Amino acid sequence: MNPIVVTGSASGIGAATCEALRAAGKSIIGVDIRDADILADLSTPDGRQAAVADVLARCKGALDGLVCCAGLGPTVSPLSKIAAVNYFGATAFLEGLFEALIQGSESAAVVVSSNSISLVEETWRDSALFQAFMADDEALALQLADEVEMGQVVYGGSKFALTCRVRELAGTWGSAGVRLNAVAPGVVQTPLLQAGLDDPRFGQAIRNFVPPLGRRAEPAEIAELIGFLMSPRAGYMHGGVYFIDGGIDAQLRPQYF
Ligand SMILES: NC(=O)c1ccc[n+]([C@@H]2O[C@H](COP(=O)([O-])OP(=O)(O)OC[C@H]3O[C@@H](n4cnc5c(N)ncnc54)[C@H](O)[C@@H]3O)[C@@H](O)[C@H]2O)c1
Repeated sequence: MNPIVVTGSASGIGAATCEALRAAGKSIIGVDIRDADILADLSTPDGRQAAVADVLARCKGALDGLVCCAGLGPTVSPLSKIAAVNYFGATAFLEGLFEALIQGSESAAVVVSSNSISLVEETWRDSALFQAFMADDEALALQLADEVEMGQVVYGGSKFALTCRVRELAGTWGSAGVRLNAVAPGVVQTPLLQAGLDDPRFGQAIRNFVPPLGRRAEPAEIAELIGFLMSPRAGYMHGGVYFIDGGIDAQLRPQYF
């Protein structure tokens, strides 16, 4: 059995995912800026590169799984930091660990997106920031992110671009026998959400926004879906984007799926 890498392992959904995977008998390499097997700052190219190298050394070149969960919420400043961690922090791991996943057994990867991708306007695809993400031009993307006025635009935009990248990779990853999916949670009770609730710019809007199921999710509920997607029971699930949001997406856009 080869290990599974979980980024953002110290808190919230990432910590709950580690717990679920460990309970299923998996061996985990946690990556985070604090309290993790590998300490790394995924907001910088050097931090990502060192973390990927450390993972490859520890797993001896073979991994059974990868969960990209590390992320920053829309309250964080500067906004370039959100773009750096949420998009480039995840794509560096997808790229850097792909060969090791090919060497693993029944390998799978899950990227944690957000249901905020459904709020991104159609015109976003024409924006310079989206083009910079998709061109992997980090210097330009970070510069453009800092010119945006609202954190939720960079947050939703970074997750939208990351989800597009997952879909783009489905061809090559599927042919190589490595499944790759995205999950798109809604409001989950974690420190990231709490920072939004405590922020006078966002708090009331988040409180007013009640999912059809009438409550926020617990991190373990998201981890349950991630654990399933990582397991051979999900052997034909590949290239998908799975909303797990208490019905928010269905309520906001019933004719899109
Ligand atoms: N909580 C929600 O409502 C919600 C909704 C949709 C999507 N998400 C996504 O779920 C993922 C997990 O978020 P969460 O809610 O569990 O938040 P969280 O704050 O509890 O966990 C995020 C983790 O990422 C780590 N991290 C942040 N910056 C980092 C960096 N520079 N380098 C390395 N690690 C770093 C943090 O230390 C933390 O452990 C994020 O990608 C987030 O965007 C959360």
